[in-house]
Amino acid sequence: MSVVRSIVAGSGSYLPEKILTNEDLAKIVDTSDEWIVQRTGIKQRHIAAEGQVTSDLATEAAKRALESAGRTPDDIDTIILATATPDNTFPASAVTVQANLGMTHGYAFDVHAVCSGFVYALTTADAYIRAGLAKRCLVIGAETFSRILDWEDRTTCVLFGDGAGAVLLERADGEGSTQDRGILTSHLRSDGRHKEKLFVDGGPSGTQTVGHVRMEGREVFKHAVGMITDVIEDAFSATGFSADDLTWFIPHQANKRIIDASAKKLKIAPEKVVTTVQWHGNTSAASIPLALDTAVRDGRVKKNDLLMLEAMGGGFTWGSVLLRW
Ligand code: UT7
Repeated sequence: MSVVRSIVAGSGSYLPEKILTNEDLAKIVDTSDEWIVQRTGIKQRHIAAEGQVTSDLATEAAKRALESAGRTPDDIDTIILATATPDNTFPASAVTVQANLGMTHGYAFDVHAVCSGFVYALTTADAYIRAGLAKRCLVIGAETFSRILDWEDRTTCVLFGDGAGAVLLERADGEGSTQDRGILTSHLRSDGRHKEKLFVDGGPSGTQTVGHVRMEGREVFKHAVGMITDVIEDAFSATGFSADDLTWFIPHQANKRIIDASAKKLKIAPEKVVTTVQWHGNTSAASIPLALDTAVRDGRVKKNDLLMLEAMGGGFTWGSVLLRW
């Protein structure tokens, strides 16, 4: 049976030039390189330059994804940008990316699911492609979390960074089997009862301010591994695959301890885990495409490889996407 599949035709990523190391942070708040590395695995993060906004980072990643796919903006019809740190309250930063790319056709919009944003955006793009509403879609995760951090709060400011990653998703024909290339299954979840455990204490309707990230880290940690493994097991049940079948596990890059614990619980071999959190910290919606693009460009990810992507974050939101490259 012939089915519509969404295949990844190219990827790109962008990190701002400025690097903030753990040693730099130890001069601002009461922390140490040893504490940060031991608890999170993070060694450094990138910080957007003054005046450099989320859409700038997103545009750069999008251009690189288009280049790697051998496509131009004329070839695409849709842009979906996952971000929790848009340039403005409105319009969506995706339309600024659209303008930056010189596109006056098609349509663009933002998706907001914080750290799960890329998994949500990828699933949305796949659904649009399969419904015939899009043929070629740029799916981007981009954040400037440095703008919503409380730089006096050591429990949060050491964890996050700025960055962007993107993929070009294209309509293709498949046979309807799990050997097809493209997105094979997606599983999204949310539970708003956990809102207070990870949130921003500002917003246009609530306070008319932008606000800062507030997190009960230990509480988030406690829920993360269980939620991540649930949606990955859902993906295994839907396809008949197991951890042994995966070529690469590309998780949201929040904390190396969460990544390692999830892989261990799922019995995913450590050599299959792509970890980049040490280089850019938690970049929220940008973290999966940043890790993915790193593994594509260094030659690890190859055509027909089976990839498991997953994320968990504010809301809580969580989800998995299983795809064949
Ligand atoms: O993208 C999804 C969203 N976020 C996450 O996934 C993050 C989830 N949570 C975590 O990654 C971890 O909970 C943290 C990395 C945030 C914290 O690690 P932890 O092992 O859960 O530490 P903790 O919160 O239990 O804190 C241990 C101690 C505390 O001191 P006391 O109360 O034991 O005296 C903290 O005050 O470490 C202290 N602490 C720090 N010390 C040095 C907290 N932050 C720092 C810091 N430097 N930056």
